Amino acid sequence: MRAQRSQVAVVGAGPSGLLLSHLLAAADVESVVLESRSEEHVAARVRAGILEHSTVQLLTDAGLAGRLRAQGDEHRGIHLQWPHERHHVDFVDLTGRSVWVYGQTEVQKDLVDAARARGQDVRHEVADVALHDLAGDHPHVTFTDASGNPQRLDVDAVVGCDGAFGPGRAAVPEAVRSSWSRTYPYSWLGILADVPPSTDELIYAWHPDGFAMHSMRSATVSRLYLQVPNGTDVADWPDDRVWDALATRLGHGQDGWELTPGPVTGKSVLPMRSYVQTPMRHGRLFLAGDAAHTVPPTGAKGLNLAVADVALLAPALAALLREGNPALADAYSDTALRRVWRCTHFSWWMTTMLHTSGDPFDEQLQLSQLRWVATSEAGAAGLAENYAGLPIGF
Ligand code: FAD
Ligand code: PHB
Repeated sequence: MRAQRSQVAVVGAGPSGLLLSHLLAAADVESVVLESRSEEHVAARVRAGILEHSTVQLLTDAGLAGRLRAQGDEHRGIHLQWPHERHHVDFVDLTGRSVWVYGQTEVQKDLVDAARARGQDVRHEVADVALHDLAGDHPHVTFTDASGNPQRLDVDAVVGCDGAFGPGRAAVPEAVRSSWSRTYPYSWLGILADVPPSTDELIYAWHPDGFAMHSMRSATVSRLYLQVPNGTDVADWPDDRVWDALATRLGHGQDGWELTPGPVTGKSVLPMRSYVQTPMRHGRLFLAGDAAHTVPPTGAKGLNLAVADVALLAPALAALLREGNPALADAYSDTALRRVWRCTHFSWWMTTMLHTSGDPFDEQLQLSQLRWVATSEAGAAGLAENYAGLPIGF
């Protein structure tokens, strides 16, 4: 087995892992990133689409927002609607903060380019990643490299940026960890379509048939979602059926608004879950992003929360490893979890307000809540503050 050394082993080269390695390099901390999939596979995953204010600020400060600012689209707010009514909630008027439409695929590309430019050590297609001696000051990671050779990496800290199914969260001993979860009784059917968006800003629509959303990726690519029952097979949703349901739920023909269909280039079903595992630090193991928490996508928080975690973790690791100062690292879990729970609540709240459950009492409560949020400045400001994003470290 070949042994190597670095300061930090980062497991996972998704957005949280690559951004963490970037911020660590800027703070003169060396890291090796270990990723089980190929670079192409990670880059092609279509996921989040909205960056909140502090995410854009952080990427800008890190020198990673050139393409985002040139090609992304800044939005003032969202449209909230239910049958016969559509209301614009203007985040900029309400909070002074905007959001940006810029896909996770693009963020990933920018992070990969930056990693390549600085010569970051990223190992793709590794297998059997196992984390060892996490309780002491000298942990190590073993793995099999892409050529099938066993490897050992000795480090001062290990970070699990390995999503919901990686080894990071399971490496916190059962006696130490707690978790909370909620599985929702519905999923999203998402499509990507080569057609200009039929809306200037995102539409979140409550409808008796189920929630629908109109998002976008660019001036020529639309991203749309439908609430569907759990266990839905995409084969039961040919393109015509998807566009018909979207037209009904999004209000085609209402006040002259039209939904323009187009060629569908991707279609998938996404289950919805809330999950939080604590603590986010155990000894020299730290968790960030989806490795520690998952939110349903309704509030567009997943990617933003991953960015907020690593924004706290990078300076904490730099202080610990360069100055021997453990204060920020000791505070990391509690500090990060304040925002995690705020976003967990907001995502749950948006989800339960907008998805139909079939219960007539729930329907009336949802409509009352929507009317209050859309028409009261106090109600709208609460949504706007959470959606456009609270400051990192809130
Ligand atoms: P990930 O992006 O999951 O990255 C983890 C990385 O770790 C992966 O590259 C994985 O291959 C790697 N890994 C896993 N196991 C191992 C191992 N054993 N060894 C080495 N590497 C490993 N958020 C939104 O805000 N809006 C959305 O619309 C939205 N849609 C989503 C759709 C889907 C299908 C999914 C799964 C998530 C979606 N999210 C969305 C959430 C958002 O994409 C995530 O919150 C974000 O990707 C988190 O980044 P991350 O780097 O923490 O985790
Ligand atoms: C998306 O564009 O994929 C998207 C946007 C907002 C959400 C969820 C997903 O709340």
